[in-house]
Amino acid sequence: MVYSRTPWNLPTLILIVALLKWAHVCGNPTIITYSPFNASVDAAILRSAMNQVGTDEQKIISIVTKRTLKQRLQIISEYDKRFKMKLETELKMEVGGNLFELLHALFQTKPAFYAESIHKAVSRFGPDDQALIDQIFCCLETFKIDKVGQDYKKQYSRDLKVDVKKDVSGDYATLLEALIQGKRRNSTSFHKNVNNSIKIAKELVKTGRKGSGIWLGSEVNPIIKTFSECSYKELAEISNEYLKLTNRPLATLFKSKSTGNFQSLLLKILSYAESPINHFALILKSALEQTPNVNLYKDIHRCRAVIRVLVTRSEVDLMDIEERYSVTANKSLAADVKAATVSYFQKACLNIIRGNR
Ligand SMILES: *[C@@H]1O[C@H](CO)[C@@H](O)[C@H](O)[C@H]1NC(C)=O
Ligand SMILES: *[C@@H]1O[C@H](CO)[C@@H](O)[C@H](O)[C@H]1NC(C)=O
Ligand SMILES: *[C@@H]1O[C@H](CO)[C@@H](O)[C@H](O)[C@H]1NC(C)=O
Ligand SMILES: *[C@@H]1O[C@H](CO)[C@@H](O)[C@H](O)[C@H]1NC(C)=O
Repeated sequence: MVYSRTPWNLPTLILIVALLKWAHVCGNPTIITYSPFNASVDAAILRSAMNQVGTDEQKIISIVTKRTLKQRLQIISEYDKRFKMKLETELKMEVGGNLFELLHALFQTKPAFYAESIHKAVSRFGPDDQALIDQIFCCLETFKIDKVGQDYKKQYSRDLKVDVKKDVSGDYATLLEALIQGKRRNSTSFHKNVNNSIKIAKELVKTGRKGSGIWLGSEVNPIIKTFSECSYKELAEISNEYLKLTNRPLATLFKSKSTGNFQSLLLKILSYAESPINHFALILKSALEQTPNVNLYKDIHRCRAVIRVLVTRSEVDLMDIEERYSVTANKSLAADVKAATVSYFQKACLNIIRGNR
């Protein structure tokens, strides 16, 4: 009997499930700790690349895009010590445009990076709701939002909440305010409580059955509470239970019962909770494909969307995102980035995608 020899016995299945879970938690980055690393040597190379006649962009890129954030921060502090100069200040004098924007992003701590991203997105000159929705407030997971608020205050002497809320209204404003409270539970300390997820999923089913106006008035509060306080793992479980109960994705409920930016933010939180890899692959796809052959230089919002994914995911799961991208877009991420960018900015982006492994 061939079938009795199948390897799919219980221990093997448990092992496979455990491996899949592990793969979900620990994604595949493109940038890993560079070795042998010497911050002082790197600082000296950067110094000489910037202080010669005609900046050596290639050299700068080859260092900055091949180190982890932790290593880059060490380079900044070595630079400061050895040359009594701020690396950032010199960099700003030597390189410009999108390349500076990318390199600058690579040299920032996470909270500082998000503080600056939010500041740019709420600016009077070219506000960018999509950035707030797709890449900032939907997925601030790994550190506390109050750190971002503190950095915001430090950099701009302004209150983050006030700035974010100044031009928004309605349920969208309420949801943003709830997210800024930073009450989301931690996914890593998540204890499976399927019963609670089932309870919430059932409430959502009921919500969908009632007539119109369900997202208005007081009834919007439970959904805002759920989407701002549940861990992403819980949200994924709720979505899964909803699917089991109704045979329809939870996203369809939001699409039919909510509108505008409120709808978009709920959908993006859900998309990130269900699969960060898919979420970011789609963001890259829409940033790169909209108008093929139009250079990203001409559209700062799309350019920043790409920079944010590269900078925030390169040490997390960019390799998985790249793989997913090639399946969804039927083209490699590198090919599409190449088509949309030029010059040293292109080289730097491709370096991060290729990685240092
Ligand atoms: C880094 O390089 C400098 C200069 O070459 C050297 O003096 C220092 O000992 C090195 N540091 C480490 C940790 O290897
Ligand atoms: C989440 O919980 C883990 C383990 O309890 C902890 O190490 C980690 O710092 C927590 N993360 C946040 C953002 O609180
Ligand atoms: C979950 O619900 C089931 C069925 O109602 C019940 O038997 C079980 O004890 C509950 N589990 C927890 C942890 O509450
Ligand atoms: C994917 O791309 C290849 C080569 O460019 C092409 O031959 C193929 O038809 C494409 N597949 C889909 C599903 O578009």
